[in-house]
Amino acid sequence: MGENWYQDAVFYELYVRAFYDSTGSGHGDLAGVVEKLDYLKSLGVDCIWLLPIYPSPLKDDGYDVADYLGIHPDFGTLDDFRRLIEEAHARGLRVIADLVVNHTSDQHPWFVESRSSRDNPKRDWYVWSDTGKRYSETRIIFIDTEDSNWTYDERTGQYYWHRFYYHQPDLNFDNPDVQQAILDVMAYWLDLGIDGFRVDAVPYLYEREGTINENLPQTHAYLKRMRRFIDERWPHALLLCEANQPPEDVVAYFGEGDEFHMGFHFPLMPRIYMALRSGESAKLREVIQQTPPIPDGCQWCTFLRNHDELTLEMVSEEERQWMWQEYAPDPRMKLNLGIRRRLAPLLDNNPDRIMLANRILFSLPGSPIIYYGDEIGMGDAIYLPDRDGVRTPMQWNDRPNGGFSAARAAALYSPVIDGPVYGFQRVNTAAQENDPASLLNRMRMLIRLRKQHPLLARGSLRFLDPGNEAVLAFLRSEGDEHLLVLHHLGDRAVEIALNLAQFAGLIPVDLLSPGELYAPLDVAPLTLTLGCCETKWLKLNPPE
Ligand code: GLC
Repeated sequence: MGENWYQDAVFYELYVRAFYDSTGSGHGDLAGVVEKLDYLKSLGVDCIWLLPIYPSPLKDDGYDVADYLGIHPDFGTLDDFRRLIEEAHARGLRVIADLVVNHTSDQHPWFVESRSSRDNPKRDWYVWSDTGKRYSETRIIFIDTEDSNWTYDERTGQYYWHRFYYHQPDLNFDNPDVQQAILDVMAYWLDLGIDGFRVDAVPYLYEREGTINENLPQTHAYLKRMRRFIDERWPHALLLCEANQPPEDVVAYFGEGDEFHMGFHFPLMPRIYMALRSGESAKLREVIQQTPPIPDGCQWCTFLRNHDELTLEMVSEEERQWMWQEYAPDPRMKLNLGIRRRLAPLLDNNPDRIMLANRILFSLPGSPIIYYGDEIGMGDAIYLPDRDGVRTPMQWNDRPNGGFSAARAAALYSPVIDGPVYGFQRVNTAAQENDPASLLNRMRMLIRLRKQHPLLARGSLRFLDPGNEAVLAFLRSEGDEHLLVLHHLGDRAVEIALNLAQFAGLIPVDLLSPGELYAPLDVAPLTLTLGCCETKWLKLNPPE
């Protein structure tokens, strides 16, 4: 893969602590990830995104950084990190890691200094106020635990600003030293060979009175500087933007091709679940139609789940209530404005529904991300606090601790999922490896197919009218290559008719079941019957 490798890539998000424990400590580690690189290679993914790996009190699983230039001792050493990069590159895999720039841990030496006195040289590295009343139009993100974006600090009698947990003070990006310090951090990891960053919580870098303090022009200006900085010395490095915003605001983070290379498509994700549960395609069509075009060289990152709650920030109040009612029947499944469950339980552990969700994702523009464990249908643990229930150990086999660790069960950082349905005894990679019909092997096939047909990543998209709301029908095209995509969301068989007169003479071949034979297309509509959860990816080929 060359220059714009990320435009056709499939990503895999993993939490080092949860993936594989190579030492028997009870925590996954970087050396453990190295041991599992062949698994990731055989899955077919191109780039691994590591959740934060830095020293941290782990009160927010490493999004509370206490040292930007180290490795958390539970995860290994810088040498282990170098080895991971080398071994990944040797297999043609790339590695990006989280870069948390909006805030640090309150244990970070910068903050320890900043809070030590009002005239400390680092005082201005964070955002302080006498009253805790400024920026009152700013929403609170972690509504279940925080009741203000300000926390009073007794020692110096002032309040500090934080958009997330109270122990994560926001850096002050108005300070030129902070701006430079973050660029230095990036240089450090890029020189070590990392392929880029998933930049955390980018909309919140700057604050200005009278605004909601999201997506401010000052933030965009700094991000452009970040991009110029990496382009000069590491032109192949990737910047992936986490901005949980509506399409028109997310698009702004691509700039004119001079800000982020990639951005998560947050608004798309909940609408996939809405379509799946309602059996109606309208919401999905709408969100895609509302998504503005993006500059050349940029790409969406699309996903079904990640390490956070399934966020419902980008839907209306009515839609949110509906999603909670449908997907979070137990109050413990809710968190903040979202749902803390994994993919398989959300879709009732129905493999056909899980594959339908993935096929929708893999057929839309953008580069898909798989969240570790979802490729084997792992379950969640809603009795655990915060988002811990979707961050349990990866399930490798049916041996103790699911093969994740040789430690005593009580020493694990988190319990392994147990029980008759999702327990490691049943759901694990080893059990699925040799079963061609397993979720793991179906995912492998899907990834392979996606990569054989780059038009799925980069091609244009045009909706077609199949005359039935339960069917999402669109055409992906690039040059004179065309792929007709049909997804049936409902559970009763339907018959559809599609006007494909403009393609008369071409012969459909279903990439998902190439054995099925089709007559050449005609000026008369193409009629088809689609069963429950059925998908067709019809490549329209010229006759031999
Ligand atoms: C991002 C991360 C989330 C974290 C938060 C604060 O939203 O995805 O896990 O808690 O930032 O850093």
